Parts: sequence; structure tokens; C-alpha cells
Amino acid sequence: MPMTTMAHDVADLALADEGQRLIDWAANEMPVLALIRERFAAERPLDGLRIAGCLHITTETANLAITLKAGGAEVRLCGSNPLSTQDPVAAALVVRHDIPTFAVKGEDSARYYDHIRAVLECEPHLTMDDGADLVSQLHKDREDLLPGVLAGTEETTTGVIRLRAMARAGALKFPIVAVNEADTKHMFDNRYGTGQSTLDGIIRATNLLLAGKTFVICGYGWCGRGLAMRASGHGAHVIVTEVNPLRALEAVMDGYRVMTLEEAAPTADLIVTVTGDLNVVDRRHLEVMKDGAIIANSGHFNDEINLAALDSLADGVTQPRRFVDAYHLPDGRTLKVLAQGRLLNLSAAEGHPAAVMDMSFANQALCAEYVAKHHESLAPEVYDVPKDIDAEIARLKLESMGVRIDVLSAEQQEYLGSWESGTA
Ligand SMILES: NC(=O)c1ccc[n+]([C@@H]2O[C@H](COP(=O)([O-])OP(=O)(O)OC[C@H]3O[C@@H](n4cnc5c(N)ncnc54)[C@H](O)[C@@H]3O)[C@@H](O)[C@H]2O)c1
Repeated sequence: MPMTTMAHDVADLALADEGQRLIDWAANEMPVLALIRERFAAERPLDGLRIAGCLHITTETANLAITLKAGGAEVRLCGSNPLSTQDPVAAALVVRHDIPTFAVKGEDSARYYDHIRAVLECEPHLTMDDGADLVSQLHKDREDLLPGVLAGTEETTTGVIRLRAMARAGALKFPIVAVNEADTKHMFDNRYGTGQSTLDGIIRATNLLLAGKTFVICGYGWCGRGLAMRASGHGAHVIVTEVNPLRALEAVMDGYRVMTLEEAAPTADLIVTVTGDLNVVDRRHLEVMKDGAIIANSGHFNDEINLAALDSLADGVTQPRRFVDAYHLPDGRTLKVLAQGRLLNLSAAEGHPAAVMDMSFANQALCAEYVAKHHESLAPEVYDVPKDIDAEIARLKLESMGVRIDVLSAEQQEYLGSWESGTA
């Protein structure tokens, strides 16, 4: 049967009970999304809207999809990466929640795009993307559906960069809210989420002791900062590489060694890329890396490590463990690549902890409500998340953690809004 006429495509529907237990477990750590779900169920702000989601199919995404459905939406999902799908979760979405889901862990590229096509068959009003593959496919292959699309949201840095390029080229045909740009998203998800879960991926894939290792991090953006912080907490010697002088300076002052990757590569026990850039670890670096070194990526696409170059340098590849490809080079060195260079935290581990996705997906849910309400006044551009949504999520998250903060007095408010008073 062609994929587009299938009701779903998941690995094994018999995994649904296990998937539901995992979804419930994550829900315990997602109190802000739970509050939104309650309100959505009462107010139904998404009534009658079809949402096509291309997201990592994880326990947290399941909680988001359930929230959107509670708000009245019809939701269809596919994975946003061939290796990130949690198969039990995909099964539970179909069996327990009647959410058509098209995602299988380990699917090849052809099936990955078949799944996107199958999701688009619902003729969406709203898109919810993580990396912009769905939106790009929609504009390239299903232009007939574009008039029916009201708006969309985008989850990650790489997706926002792609969508802004589309908007600049005049190619984007509907407005997108860049969820990634919310402070309650990138300051927490990209930093603390990627920081912790990338180490989780390295440890699950290799069982490596990080203490004492030379750990090279390419990119000192939100993800790189978090990863550097956590790797150094494990006792690794962190080296940062950058192309942006400001970020490089920040890394220096945060206490890390900063150098070019050419200088760092020969000493690295691990190199992890989090740049969103192409061929960051390139042939010239692979040629000088030491025997046994590990290379991994937690950036969105699997193109940060030049695997084609590594393949051509190697005379054989073995799989000593799940998620580890050992490339054997004729000079006797072995270089190990984790999770085929795909984003490691979602491939070899479970992605970010639910507590951090609580805020990212609260943004997704509230931005879906926002674009449903305001799409008519929005142009086909990429918009930031409205500040009041960001502030409200921060407030609710603090409340859920039992953290209280001070409030400006009337006198302080007046003082902070004035210019007259100076040195006393
Ligand atoms: N794994 C995950 O769960 C996860 C979560 C959030 C974001 N991401 C992805 O991670 C990537 C980084 O996201 P971010 O929010 O940190 O972006 P960012 O823009 O804040 O940081 C990226 C940094 O990489 C640097 N850089 C670019 N090219 C480089 C090169 N050749 N060498 C060294 N540094 C280079 C940039 O100067 C920038 O400072 C993106 O692809 C994003 O989509 C992944």
C-alpha cells in the first residue's frame, strides 16, 4: 500500500502499553504543559484545525500532541530524524491516542520522506516543524496545499536559519513563529537539555569515563555552552573551537581553552559538534586525529562530520557496540563515530529530559494557539515568540518548582522608569 494512504506506520503496535507508561512518566515532569492542556480542554482554541507535526517522536512530543488534541486539533505526526523515534511512544500515539503517526527508529532516508509526505496528506492548517524538513517539503512538493496553510511553528536553531533563508528569498508562503527564539526555549532546552542529554548519549553509547579526557566541543552557542559546562563537571579537559570571535572570547573567559580544530584534533579523545554547520570535522582533521578517538554530533543534521571523507580514508568499518561505528584506517588508527553522526542525544539516549521540554513544548502549544488566532494579521515571515508568552511560561515554571521571587515595589518601579535621580 502506498505510504500516503496508510493510517499509520510504526514499528510495532504491540509496544503501545510500554509507550503509554513512558509518556505518563514524562508527564510527571511537565507541569506547565499540563496546565495548558487543562485550559485547552475547556476552551478548545484549536477546534477544527489540522496540525501536521514533524518532531522527534519522544515521550515529551506525545504529551504535546495530546495537549494539541485536547485543544480541539486533529494531529498527524512524523519523526524529524530517522534515528530519534521512540518506537513504543509511536505505537502508543496510534493505539491509545488515535494520533496517526508515521515514524520508525532506523528508517532510511526514503522512508523518512515518505513519512513526511504521509503527514502532509492531512492537508494541514498549521505546521509544527523541528528542522524545517516538513515546511521545505511542503513548498517543494505540495504547493497545491499551500493556500490552505495558515501558519506554522519551528522548534530548532537550524530550522529557524533555513526558514529565515526561505523568507529572505521570498519563497516562504505562510508565517512561522520561531519557538527556538523564546528565552524559555533556547536558554534551557538548548543549553541544559543538550548539555545533559549529549553526555547521556555518549555514556550510553560507549560507557566511557569522561574524567581526564580531552573533550573538544565545536561551537559555543547555546548547545555548546551547556555541553562544555556539563563535560567539565565530569572532569573532562574541555577545548572549544569557534568561528565567532565573541563566542570564542566568552568561552575563553568561561575558563575553557580555545583554539582551531586543526590544533585541537590531534589531542582530542572526543570531538562533539554542535554548530548547525557543514563538514566542521573535515578530512584534514580526520587525518590527524589520534587512534581510538570518538567523534559525535548533537547539531540538527548529520552533516557536521564529513563521513564521506572518513569512509574514503578507511579500509573497513565494524560495529563494536550499538551506535558505534569504528572506522579502521590503513595507518593502523581507528576512529569511532557515534550514531552515524546523527544528533546523538536523541539517537543513543532519550533526548532532553521532560522537565526542560515542558517549557519548549509549552511554547509550541501557546504559539499554535497564537497563530491560530492571529494568522490573518501575520505576513509570510519568521516571527519571534511574543514576549508575554515567554514571560508567562517562565512564571508558571517557577511556580511549578515552588520558587517565589520578589516583586518590584511601586517606588522601585518609578525609580527604574525615571532618569532624574543619580549619585546620592
Ligand atoms: N541535539 C539537540 O537536541 C538540539 C537541541 C537544540 C538545538 N540543536 C541544534 O544544535 C545546533 C546548534 O544550536 P545552538 O542553539 O547552539 O546554535 P547557536 O547558533 O547558538 O550556536 C552555534 C555556534 O556554532 C558556531 N559555529 C558555526 N560554524 C562553526 C564551525 N565551523 N566551527 C566552530 N563553530 C562553529 C557558531 O559561531 C555559533 O556560535 C543547531 O543545529 C540546532 O538546531 C540540537
